[in-house]
Amino acid sequence: MTQSLTHPHRVFDPLLRVLHWAIALAIVSLIATSQLAEWFEHGPYEKTFWNLHILSGYVLTAGLLTRLLWGVVGPASARWRDVWHPAVWKASLSTMRLPAKHRAGHDPIASLGYLFAYGVMALMVITGLGLAASEFQAGPLAGWLGDAAWLEDVLGEPHEVGFVLLLGFIGLHLTALVFHQWRGERVAQSMVTGKQYHQMESGVQHD
Ligand code: HEM
Repeated sequence: MTQSLTHPHRVFDPLLRVLHWAIALAIVSLIATSQLAEWFEHGPYEKTFWNLHILSGYVLTAGLLTRLLWGVVGPASARWRDVWHPAVWKASLSTMRLPAKHRAGHDPIASLGYLFAYGVMALMVITGLGLAASEFQAGPLAGWLGDAAWLEDVLGEPHEVGFVLLLGFIGLHLTALVFHQWRGERVAQSMVTGKQYHQMESGVQHD
């Protein structure tokens, strides 16, 4: 059904928004603590920053697991099918144009970025928990992998590649939000208020 909307449209539920901000804050903290730990390498605070890094990693792990579950049992705009739009991706690729219609919920093209980001977050959580166990004998895998010092070399590289990929996603995500703001589209506020405003002439697609 296509219809024009003049009123704000309630879309993102409170738990989805809390998870977005918990995940975003955990990632900012993970970036800051890893950089500070490297900055203070061999200094008295190095261990403290790695401990804070591991702690932030637990927050990301909990946020990601909850988001995975919410994508299965949550309301329509939190479900995984709300970020799965192969027909739109195919049409955009064949016409080399972005979709003209707006839809309630996640933007179909931005959703590709979200799926990519969640994949990289999963990689970071798995390699991070492995590194915490093998390097610091900490975390839920410590009992199993605490003696596996060799894991440091195996997991270190993908953990660093994932870090760069996540920085790329954050740069693109924030640039897109600023771009929409500059065009007068109130996209960014939707992750705070849960409401979306669509321009009348473009209409809103409900699917
Ligand atoms: C570390 C920084 C950030 C990360 C890692 C991040 C990550 C994400 C992810 C993974 C999603 C998909 C959400 C879902 O699961 O439903 C998302 C969506 C979204 N984010 Fe962020 N985010 C960050 C910062 C921000 C900021 C600063 C804003 C602006 C206030 C923002 C606004 C939004 C909005 C509006 C959406 C939904 C867009 C749509 O309609 O498709 N994000 N973000």
